[in-house]
Amino acid sequence: MVNYKVADENLAEKGKEAIYIAENKMPVVAKILRERFLKEKPLEGIKIAGCLHITKETANLARTLKAGGAEVYLCGSNPLSTQDDVAAALVKEDVNVFAWHGNTDEEFYWCIRECLKAKPNILIDDGADMIVTAHKEFPELISSGTIIACQEETTTGVKRFRAMEKQGVLKVPLYPVNDARCKNQFDNELGTGQGIVSAIYGMHVLFAGRTVVIAGYGHCSSGMALRARGLGANVIVTEVDPIKALQARFAGYQVMPIAKALPDADIVLTATGCKHVITPTKEMFDLLKDGVILGNLGHFDIEIPTKELYEYAKEIKPIRSNVEELIFPDGKKVYLLAKGRLANLVLSEGHPSEVMDMSFSLQSLMSEYIVKNKDSLKPGIIEVPEDIDDKVGFLKLKSMGIEIDTLTEEQYNYIHGFEEGT
Ligand SMILES: NC(=O)c1ccc[n+]([C@@H]2O[C@H](COP(=O)([O-])OP(=O)(O)OC[C@H]3O[C@@H](n4cnc5c(N)ncnc54)[C@H](O)[C@@H]3O)[C@@H](O)[C@H]2O)c1
Repeated sequence: MVNYKVADENLAEKGKEAIYIAENKMPVVAKILRERFLKEKPLEGIKIAGCLHITKETANLARTLKAGGAEVYLCGSNPLSTQDDVAAALVKEDVNVFAWHGNTDEEFYWCIRECLKAKPNILIDDGADMIVTAHKEFPELISSGTIIACQEETTTGVKRFRAMEKQGVLKVPLYPVNDARCKNQFDNELGTGQGIVSAIYGMHVLFAGRTVVIAGYGHCSSGMALRARGLGANVIVTEVDPIKALQARFAGYQVMPIAKALPDADIVLTATGCKHVITPTKEMFDLLKDGVILGNLGHFDIEIPTKELYEYAKEIKPIRSNVEELIFPDGKKVYLLAKGRLANLVLSEGHPSEVMDMSFSLQSLMSEYIVKNKDSLKPGIIEVPEDIDDKVGFLKLKSMGIEIDTLTEEQYNYIHGFEEGT
C-alpha cells in the first residue's frame, strides 16, 4: 500500500502531463536504462529513499528505479521546490511521496523521517539533510546494515559529507554523484546558467546593458556569468578563491570584492555554497541600489542574508508568486526572489530535463552498482567509478546521434606510457 502526504491528489493529471514532457527529453534515464531495468530488475527487493527536488525530472528517476524493481520513497529537498502536481501524479504510480510546496522546517523533517521509517536500503540525498538525519535519529538503520550506501546530488551536500568524514562521523559508504563529470559539468553549469534566465524572466528585466553581479565562479556561477554576458549584461564576478578569480578575469569579467560591486548592481546572483555572501549589516544593505534584484541559486537560503533583510525592511510586499518587494527605511526598494531559496527551482521549473537526464542516469546506474557491490562497500566517501561516468556520457551521445573516435591500442599505450619522447 502506498503511503503519502501531498498537497492535492487532484493535481495528478496535470503532473502526469509534466512528467511526460520531461520523459521525452530524458532518453537515457527514461528510455534506454528504464527498458533495461524493466527486463533485468536489478533493484528487486530494494527500498530507495530520495530527498530530492520533487520535479518532473525526479519523477522520471523514480519511474526508472521502480522499473528496476525498487520500492521508492520520496521527500522534497527544499521547502519551495516541490511541484505539487508531480507529487500527486507519483502517488498514483505507487511512489510513496511526502512533499508539498511551502512546507515548514518542522514539516520538512517530518517528511524525511517518514521516508526513513520505511527502512530504506539506499538513500539518494540532495543537500545531506536526509543522511544526516539518518545518522542522528535512525542510527540503527546504519548499524544493522539496512542502509547499504548513499548517494549525494549536490555540491553543498558533498561538502557536508567531506566535513563529516574528516571528523570521523560518516558511518555509511557515500557516493558523491555531484562530483562525477556527467553531473557537475552539465547540471550545475548549464542548468543553473539557463535557470537564472528563466528565474528572472518573470521580472521582465532586460539583461542587456544591466550590471549583473555574480558571486562565485564555480560550476554553477561560471555558467550563470556566461549566460548573463550572452544576454548583453555587464558581468562582475566576486570570488574568494584566487585561482577562480583569475579564471573569471581571464574570461573577460570584472572581478572585485562584493562591497565594491554592489553599488552598481542591477541584479545580484549568488551560487557559492557559502553563507552571508552579502554581509548582513546596515552598511552593506545601504550599498544596494534602488530597484536591485537579489537572487540565490546556491543550496541554502543564507547566501543572501534573507532573515536579516526581512528584519531590516520596514515593509515587505509580495508582488508576484515567490517575489517580494522589500522597502528599506530610506524608501529604497529591493526585490528578493524565492525568499532567498534556489531561484531557478522555485520560480521556474528547475534545470532543463535534458541535463537532468545525465544526473539521474548516474543516480540510476549508481543504485544498480551499489546493489551489485553491497558486500564489499566500506563507510566513507567513495568516488563514482569512472566507467559509470563514461557510460552515461556515451549513452547521452548515442541518444543524440553523435559518434566520437576511440583510441587505438597504440594511442592508448602512448598516453599511458613514458617511453616515447623527443
Ligand atoms: N540551483 C541549482 O539548481 C543548483 C544546482 C547545483 C548546485 N547548486 C548549489 O549551488 C552552490 C554552488 O555549487 P557549485 O557546484 O557551483 O560549487 P563550486 O564549489 O563549484 O563553486 C562555488 C564557488 O563559490 C566560491 N565562493 C565561496 N564562498 C564565496 C564567497 N563568500 N564569495 C564569493 N565566492 C565564494 C568558491 O570559491 C567557488 O569557486 C552549492 O550550494 C550547490 O549545492 C544549486
